[in-house]
Amino acid sequence: MKVLIATDAGAAAGQAARIIARQLRARPDAVLGLATGATMRPVYDRLVRCHREAGLSFARATTFNLDEYLGLSPDHPGSCHRYMREALFDRVDLSPDRTHVPRGDHPDPLAEARNYEARIARAGGIDLQLLGIGRNGHIGFNEPISSLGSRSRVTTLTSDTRRANQRDFGGLDATPRQAITLGVATILEARACLMLATGPAKARAVAGMIEGPLRAACPASALQMHPQVTVVLDRDAASRLKLTGCYDRPEPEGRDRDPC
Ligand code: F6R
Repeated sequence: MKVLIATDAGAAAGQAARIIARQLRARPDAVLGLATGATMRPVYDRLVRCHREAGLSFARATTFNLDEYLGLSPDHPGSCHRYMREALFDRVDLSPDRTHVPRGDHPDPLAEARNYEARIARAGGIDLQLLGIGRNGHIGFNEPISSLGSRSRVTTLTSDTRRANQRDFGGLDATPRQAITLGVATILEARACLMLATGPAKARAVAGMIEGPLRAACPASALQMHPQVTVVLDRDAASRLKLTGCYDRPEPEGRDRDPC
């Protein structure tokens, strides 16, 4: 695991965007695994700038998102579909038929989860999986005590996660209780993973993921089993890490301001 600690959240997002841009430049037809959430917004903003100002093209790329809330149509304002269209898809040259998000309103959500995995396999698997982390250590919507061998499926969200995400639904009552998510084992099949975590609220989960034991109570700790993981943190998210000698600073400060 490679751990990079940036000075602040903006620099961390810039670092993550540069890693994605580098992947796309090395392999323009890359299959990218994408995540939603507040942490990722500045990453997508950077990638959009990179597309507009530095010619980064997504035209040959394929994307698969990690998850979607159960019961939501793609147009629902709180859906991951809608988030992705607004944050990235409608702002770059991605071809709509190459962007994938599970259908939360599918009549048979379990079949949708299984088919979604099959579609990823048919696309050749994910080259780079972008991940955020929940305050409780979830990745995708694999909540604590999800099997570390879990496949894509329907999961029940914890009250922690629903509380954290109620901002997208105007209150807890309207916040969905279930989601379709890639499983932990499915995520581990990506050829490389890029985790971004910022802010003090993530510090405990980050310490569990990197320095804690491998355990289902912290699903993100499964990344310890993956041979190609980069974790980008800001100082706040890194504040509970103890093995400080093992971690790196990202590239020179000035470069943090470049879009890509
Ligand atoms: C969303 C996802 C989640 C989020 C996590 C962090 O697609 O997979 O695991 O990455 O909940 O969300 P934020 O960034 O809102 O704190």
